[in-house]
Amino acid sequence: MERFVTDASRGAPPALSGVASWKWYRHYLRDPLDFFSTVQNRFGQLAVLGNPIPLAPSKRRFILTIGAPFNRIVLGRTDLFRPGGQVLRGPRGSAHHRIRQGIFSMYGPHQTADRKMMQPPLTRPSVATYVGAMSQLIDSFIDRWRLSQQLDMYAEMRTLSNWVAAQLLFGSDDFGAARRLGETIEQWLLLDSETRERLSIIDLPGTSFSRLMRKAEEVEMLMKAEIQRKRLARAATPDVLSLLIDVREKTPDALPEWRLIAHAVILYAASFETTANALAWTLFLIAQHPAIAAELQAEIDRGVTNWPPDYAMLDELPLLDAVIKESMRLLPPVAYTFRTPMQEVELDGLTLGIKDKILLVHYLTHRDPDVFANPNRFEPKRWFAAKPDPYEYVAFSAGPRLCLGVTFAMLELKLTVARVMQRVRLSVVAGARIDAGIQLTLRPTLGIPMVVEPQDRRFAAAEISGDLRRLVEFA
Ligand code: HEM
Repeated sequence: MERFVTDASRGAPPALSGVASWKWYRHYLRDPLDFFSTVQNRFGQLAVLGNPIPLAPSKRRFILTIGAPFNRIVLGRTDLFRPGGQVLRGPRGSAHHRIRQGIFSMYGPHQTADRKMMQPPLTRPSVATYVGAMSQLIDSFIDRWRLSQQLDMYAEMRTLSNWVAAQLLFGSDDFGAARRLGETIEQWLLLDSETRERLSIIDLPGTSFSRLMRKAEEVEMLMKAEIQRKRLARAATPDVLSLLIDVREKTPDALPEWRLIAHAVILYAASFETTANALAWTLFLIAQHPAIAAELQAEIDRGVTNWPPDYAMLDELPLLDAVIKESMRLLPPVAYTFRTPMQEVELDGLTLGIKDKILLVHYLTHRDPDVFANPNRFEPKRWFAAKPDPYEYVAFSAGPRLCLGVTFAMLELKLTVARVMQRVRLSVVAGARIDAGIQLTLRPTLGIPMVVEPQDRRFAAAEISGDLRRLVEFA
C-alpha cells in the first residue's frame, strides 16, 4: 500500500459517521460552500464523513481534502486515483450509462489514448485559427445589445458560450438547436445531482431516477442528430466534432459510436457552463472594482488596436490575464471535484479504500492565505508577482488531467472581456441581489442584472446585497 504524509498532516482525522453525520450531509446539501468552510474551521484540511445510513452495507465515506498537498497526490497520481462520483452509473444498456462514459469518467490507458485523440483541435496552434471566427461571433453577439438596456449578464454569457461552443466546437450555425442541446445536457446533469441527493435508485414513473433516464435518452437522441447533421454536411471545418467523426471513420475500433456520442456530450457540458460562469463573474467583478476597470480599459485601449486582434497581441495584456485568473481564483466555476482510490492508499495516517470518495475543494484551495494574501479580495495585480505552483491554483485542474480546453477557454474569455470593454461599459444595477451557489458549477443563482452604458470610462461600483458578500470582500 502506498503511504503519503503531507505537510498539513495532523494524523488520521476523526470520522463523522452514523446518525451524527446527518447534520453534516444536510449542511452540505443546503449550502456546500458554507459546509466546506465550516468543516475546514472545525477539522482542518482533511475530514472524513462516514455513511449516514445506520447499518448500511456500503462502507463508502466522503473524504474532504483542501489544499495543494492533497491535490498533488490525488490529481497527480492518476495511476492511484480515478474520477468517481461525478455522475451516477445507471443501469447497463441505458442511454444514461452510455453517455456518462465520455472522457471525464474514463481512466487508464483508454483515457490516455482518447485524451490524445481529442487534443489536436484544442492545442495553441489550432486555437489560434479560431481567433477570427470567435471575434466575429462576439461582435455580432454584442450587436444585439442596446444602450440603457438592462440585461441578466449571466443569461447573456450562457447564450454567448453556447454560440461559441456550437460554432467552434461543433461547427454548427444552428444556435437554436445548440441551445436546446446545451440546456438538455445541463438538465440531465442537474437531474443526476438531484437523483443522488434524494437517493432515488428505482426507475419508477414520477421518481427523479426515472426523469433522469428519460432525460439521458433525450440527450443521446439530440447528440445523434447533431452528429448525423455533421456527417451529411462534411464541411472541412477544423472543429472538434469533425475531428472525432474522422477518427471514428478511420479507426472504428478505436472509437465506437456510443463513445463518440459520450465524448461529444461531455465536451459540450465541460465547455458551455464553465465558460459562461467565468465570463459572467469576471464582467461583474470588473464592474464592481472601478480602479481595476480603469486600468484594464487603458491596457485594452493601448494593446488591442485592431479587431479581430492578432493572437500574439493577447499575450501582451498582462492585466487582462490577471483579472481572468483572479476571477476564477475567487469564484472557480468548478468549485470542487471527486476522485476514488483504485487501491488502498494511506493519506496522513488515514487508510482509504476503493469505495471512498475523495472531495477536493478547489474553492478553498484558492483561499489559502499563505499562498494568496487577503484571499477574499479581488486583487488581480497579485498575479504580477505570484507564481503559485500548479496544484495551488486549480481552476482548470492540474496534472495529467488538466482541462483540455484551457487554451480555448482563455481565448474566449480574453476576447469577450476585451471586446465588451471596447464597445460598452457594463454597470451592475444598484441594489441588485447577487447570490452564489453550486448547481454543478459555482454560478450566480439569481443572475447578474447589469445595464449597458456607453463606454464613457465613468466606472463606478454599485451597492449590492446577497450572499456573494460572504464570498468576496469588497473594499
Ligand atoms: C472557464 C472555462 C473552463 C473551466 C473553469 C474548466 C475547468 C475544468 C476542470 C477543473 C477540469 C477537471 C475536472 C475534474 O478533474 O474533475 C476540466 C476538465 C476538462 N475540460 Fe475544462 N474547463 C473550462 C472550459 C473547457 C472548454 C472550453 C473545454 C473544451 C473545449 C473543456 C474541456 C475539458 C475536458 C475534455 C476535460 C476532461 C479532461 C480529462 O479528463 O482528461 N473545458 N475542465
